[in-house]
Formats: sequence, structure tokens, C-alpha cells
Amino acid sequence: MKSIQSNIKKAKKYLDKNHCVAVPTETVYGLAGNAYSNTSVKKIFRLKKRPMNNPLIVHYSDIDKLKDDCHINDNFIKLYNKFSPGPITFILKLKKNSKISKFVTNKRNSIAIRFPKHSLFRKLLKSLEYPLAAPSANISSKLSSVKASDVIEEFGSKIKFVLDGGKCEIGLESTIINLLGKPTLLRYGGLDVSKIEKILKKKVLIKTNSKKKIAPGQFSLHYSPGIPLRINVKKPKKDEAFVLVKKRKATFKNYYYLSKNNNLQQSAKNLYSLLRKIKRDGYKMIAVEKIQNKGIGKTINDRLNRASKY
Ligand code: TXA
Ligand code: MG
Repeated sequence: MKSIQSNIKKAKKYLDKNHCVAVPTETVYGLAGNAYSNTSVKKIFRLKKRPMNNPLIVHYSDIDKLKDDCHINDNFIKLYNKFSPGPITFILKLKKNSKISKFVTNKRNSIAIRFPKHSLFRKLLKSLEYPLAAPSANISSKLSSVKASDVIEEFGSKIKFVLDGGKCEIGLESTIINLLGKPTLLRYGGLDVSKIEKILKKKVLIKTNSKKKIAPGQFSLHYSPGIPLRINVKKPKKDEAFVLVKKRKATFKNYYYLSKNNNLQQSAKNLYSLLRKIKRDGYKMIAVEKIQNKGIGKTINDRLNRASKY
């Protein structure tokens, strides 16, 4: 308990000085900085090697803190009441007099906002005078981090502090929904779209592969382990690591299980760390068996599809 408090204090100290720190969320780790500070936000882009035109998500502890920065609407309220804090990111209209750094939104008039669920991150947010801009804590286009050690693997000593909150509960990024006009899905994520549709009582438009690429999570090459990956594979080639979701009768050294009983939640949670492990084990190619395209399985398939474009 004492160390939790002192770690939060330490993170706050760095953030107050415009440094970046890595933070745990229920989805993936974030690389956080003061969203009101140009200095902090520019550091995030530099560390991640992220193109400046790819806007960031801003994280808040609760709705009260939001009103200075963006306009809210009825659809937002409905979804907020049901799913926040949780794995959903909302695109809303940015207020003209908001203090959000122009580098966060790349001068757009919209902003991505989210209320993360992890208790450490929430405690940290509540202790600050500003919201936190935080993209996933990985080098641009690579695999997101789901453990403190992944963050270190990505950035080494380049970041000041990792607030260690254990392994992320969901393991895949948040679902992004654009609420500026007709509700539109921009990224499959930790929250199932059908649940969103149930609350809104209508279908949402799906634009996860928009040509305009509003959300670069939509870029075809993304979430990449950095080695070739094939999907929907029945039988692996000789030198491939084989990623499975169901137990096979015979098992071989190159078999890696996301789950042994086709559990999709568990598979999502294990996906990025297993891909990292396969790479560490020295494999140069990955084959993945077919994964059911329902619930969070849709998000797993979305990520694997993009990773397979390597
Ligand atoms: O689960 C998550 O969402 C994690 C944790 C740390 O919160 N964050 C995350 O951030 O995945 P990032 O930066 O890796 O992905 C954010 C996505 C990007 O694809 C970005 O283009 C999109 O959100 N985005 C940000 N602002 C936007 C805006 N105003 N309009 C459309 N898309 C936006
Ligand atoms: Mg990312």
C-alpha cells in the first residue's frame, strides 16, 4: 500500500516536470505526458518515433474534468454511463478555448478521450491538475506493451519511470468510436461493438479501414511483431512458430498456446506477450491458426490481419 502511494507520487513528480512516464491501463500500457504541455506532448512523439500527424488519446479520471476541453453529446453520455471507466475511446468536438496542446490533436477540431479503468492509473489521474495524453507504450507501428518489462524492452532507459501495474487485464487497445456525427467505429478494441449498438439502440458504421486514415491504428501495417506472420494456417511450415487457441493431441516445440480451450478473452490477453516471446525465442516466421471472428475475436483478427501485412 505504502509503495503504491510512493510510486504514484514519483510518477506525479516526473509528470509535473514535463517528463513522460509509462502507465498501466486495463487495455495496454500507455506512454503518458501532461496533455496541456507542448513540451511533454512533443516528448511522447519523439520517444515513440510517431508521425506528428497521428493524434493522441487524452485520459481523464471522470467526466467533470472534461468540460473545459470538449463538447459532449447524448450518445456520449449514454456510452459513458454504461462503459466508462473502461476500454472505449470517444472522438468528440474539441472546445476552442481548451488548454489541450495543439500537438495532441495535430490542430484538428476533434479530440480522442478515454477513462481508463486500472486503479493505479485512476489514482494517478486524480492526483494531477491536468489530463494525460497517452498513446500505447511502444515504438510506432510495433506491438503494444502489456507488462512493465515490455515497456523496458521497447524504450530501455529512455523513459524516466514505469508505473508497474502488473499484466494488463484485456491486453488489446480500446475500441474507438467517433461520435461527431453518426456513431462510427474507427478501431476494433477491448469493448465489443454489439454492446455499443445495444446501448445506442442502432447499428454503428464501421470505418476501420478508411482511405482517409483518420485513426492511423487503421494503417494496414500496424501492431507488428517485426517478422512475417501468416493467418488462418492449418499446418505450419518447418521453421515457423505456430500460434494456437485450442489444444492439439500432439504438441511440438514450435507450438505456442494463446489458450488451450478456445477462450477468446484469454487469447486477447496473451496475444502481444506471446508474439514478443516467439521473437525472443529466435523464430523468424509466425503462423497463426484460424481464430473465431466473434466478440473480442474480431479485435484479435483485426490486429493479426494488420500484422500479417509485414
Ligand atoms: O487502449 C488504448 O486506447 C491505449 C491506452 C494507452 O489508452 N492507447 C492507444 O493509443 O492505443 P494509440 O495512440 O496507440 O492509438 C490511438 C488511436 C490512433 O490510431 C489515433 O490515430 C486515434 O486513436 N486518434 C486519436 N485522436 C483522434 C482523433 N481526433 N480522430 C480520430 N482518431 C484519433
Ligand atoms: Mg498504438
